[in-house]
Amino acid sequence: MKITLRLIVSLVLAVTSVTAGFSLYQVDKEKSRMASSLERRTSILADSLRESVAYLVRRGLSARLEGLVVRFGNRKRLEGIAVFDMDGNIITATPELEPDIPQPFPEAVKTMLSNSPSSRLRDINGKETYIYVLPLKSKGKTNGAMALFNDASYINLRLKEIWKYNLLRFLIYTVLIVLITLVVVRWSITGPIARMAQWMREVRTGKDKADLSRFPRGDILSSLINEASHMAKSLTAARAKAEEEAKLRFRAASLWTAHRLKEHMRAELNGKKLFLVSNREPYMHEKSGRDIRCIVPAGGLVTALDPVMRICDGLWLAHGGGDADRETVDAYDKVRVPPEEPAYTLRRVWLSKEEEMGYYYGFSNEGIWPLCHITHTRPVFRLEDWVYYQKVNQKFAEALLEEIKDEECPLILIQDYHLALLPLLIKEKRPDARVALFWHIPWPNPEAFGICPWQQEILMGMLGADLVGFHIQFHCNNFLDTVERFIESKTDWEQFSVTRGGHTTLVKSFPISVSFENFPDTEAARKENRSLREQLFRETGLHAKYLGVGVDRIDYTKGIPERFSAVERFLEKNHEFIGQFTFVELGAPSRTHIKKYHDLIAEVEETVERVNWRFQTKEWKPILFLKAHHTHEEISRFYKSADLCMVTSLHDGMNLVAKEFVSARDDGDGALILSQFAGASRELTDALIINPYDIEEMADAIYRCLTMDENEKKERMARMRHVVRENNIYRWAGDLITALARLRPSSCME
Ligand code: G6P
Repeated sequence: MKITLRLIVSLVLAVTSVTAGFSLYQVDKEKSRMASSLERRTSILADSLRESVAYLVRRGLSARLEGLVVRFGNRKRLEGIAVFDMDGNIITATPELEPDIPQPFPEAVKTMLSNSPSSRLRDINGKETYIYVLPLKSKGKTNGAMALFNDASYINLRLKEIWKYNLLRFLIYTVLIVLITLVVVRWSITGPIARMAQWMREVRTGKDKADLSRFPRGDILSSLINEASHMAKSLTAARAKAEEEAKLRFRAASLWTAHRLKEHMRAELNGKKLFLVSNREPYMHEKSGRDIRCIVPAGGLVTALDPVMRICDGLWLAHGGGDADRETVDAYDKVRVPPEEPAYTLRRVWLSKEEEMGYYYGFSNEGIWPLCHITHTRPVFRLEDWVYYQKVNQKFAEALLEEIKDEECPLILIQDYHLALLPLLIKEKRPDARVALFWHIPWPNPEAFGICPWQQEILMGMLGADLVGFHIQFHCNNFLDTVERFIESKTDWEQFSVTRGGHTTLVKSFPISVSFENFPDTEAARKENRSLREQLFRETGLHAKYLGVGVDRIDYTKGIPERFSAVERFLEKNHEFIGQFTFVELGAPSRTHIKKYHDLIAEVEETVERVNWRFQTKEWKPILFLKAHHTHEEISRFYKSADLCMVTSLHDGMNLVAKEFVSARDDGDGALILSQFAGASRELTDALIINPYDIEEMADAIYRCLTMDENEKKERMARMRHVVRENNIYRWAGDLITALARLRPSSCME
């Protein structure tokens, strides 16, 4: 109210001074205009009478003089005429006026003395009168004076009228100003502020939890509103988090969050940097026409470790495999990533074509990969590949040693089967380093592993690490069995460790996971997913009632042809689902230089064609195979829209697709079919667990998912979500890095 009053008073004062100023000016102008017009008229009349009057005075013809005075004395506005002798006394005058004229008349005397006309305003008989006096001359000599008395009261009346009119105008202005100010202030300022204050109160008190759309809008407050909107969103998010954490504290659960991991890392690492080494880089720069685009390669490794590195701001050493990778690094082969929000450093290691062929395609993926995955694909071991494998491990070791040269007891986390020799190469040069090797793929039994010609070298390389991690205990046990069989060492089955030459390696399971950012299983999420699904169907031209999804790197370990055969069998057995159920496979081509992988794509495409040819109708087909690299966002839309997800790996370390699907279902809906040979089946026991070699069982599982009681489906999903939420990626990273940081190599005792 204060501001309104201040505004009104200021505006009224401004209008008052402007109106008053203009009125004064106008009155002054009008007054002088009327006065000069009166003077002009009077002087003209006076001049026209002057000679006759002077003559009559000189000749003493008083009767004629009197007649003339009477005749002219009653003209419009002319009150009268008076003629004076040389002493200023009246010779003759208009009778009505005569008594009011003082004698001698000072103006007449003055005029005669100065011998020039004069004029003035005087109050005569209570009336403002304009008196014009001029000397009378006869034969060149002054013989008297004549005065014309004019009514000048109309001038004042006119001026008063002007004042009145301006006052009225001023009053109208004032009323309008007050009204407009009140309306505008209320409409554009106090109203929006009041609504905003009310809205903020609701946000503060938690009544307006998610409904930010109700936000008041107004020109004058737009920038403030934007800021407040951001603040409100942060507040809502912070409150949701705090509520969630409070709930969890209440349940005495120890949920790992990004924030907790960060705090935990800070305490555990105590300012130390984390060095992560893997073959595959987390961000790859590729040429796309004239532009360079940055892609995130498919696969669990990046999904799992990128969030951890973002938190720790460490250094990630990896093979620079993108065709624009060299153009995007600095002089030290480094680039800050992620590009949109740099949080850690990626150092790239360059490999020649031959090195890549021998080390990556050859030894790692034609040798160790099928060796560790029992999928009846024969491993191929070539001597030249083994030579390149050693050479490239050495190359990684040199780059890493360079990076850690100034670090005391550096913390090193090595990833996967491409770098089995690296732990020993590092430890030989830097015994103070704390080294962990995490093996993302299964570990086979000793018989299976025994076919590798360089089994000892690989095991010794791995045992250089202080800690070797697998996804599940079963793989840890296989590893210990293998070491016991092929290496002279002491295996401790209680501690799960191997000691050899005074160095101990701990062997532990750390089930990898996803971040699980979606908390609520709400009605809102359900609605959102429904509209997402409609949109997706429109975009992909899908016409089906039920949707199944599979997401894989196209790899023979994933059981993709088996999965399609199961879809085929399901339709064979359940005709009512023809035209109703479509399975979408998002398959990212992978390792295509290897013949097995190349052939697999052809096999998958053939299977799709066969099944589609058998069942498809004009509008519908049973399998939609989308062969491409899909982003996390694209994949997430399919997860959220699907009725079921199929993970049918013939053998898999963990399989994060299963956990990603569960994590994406914030609507609490959807069913998971999961292979018993994927590590994830140990945790997600509420999935429909199947044997991917058993097509009949898989087909029945699809039927089961689509006909399952809604409550059972929801309960299963709720339990799986609980498991993934509790055992998320932050817990995995927290446990693994804590175990690493707490290792105390003898040369690094503090
Ligand atoms: C598996 C491996 C990962 C690898 C991923 C993708 O999950 O364990 O180390 O990153 O496959 O394979 P690629 O050969 O494309 O790196």
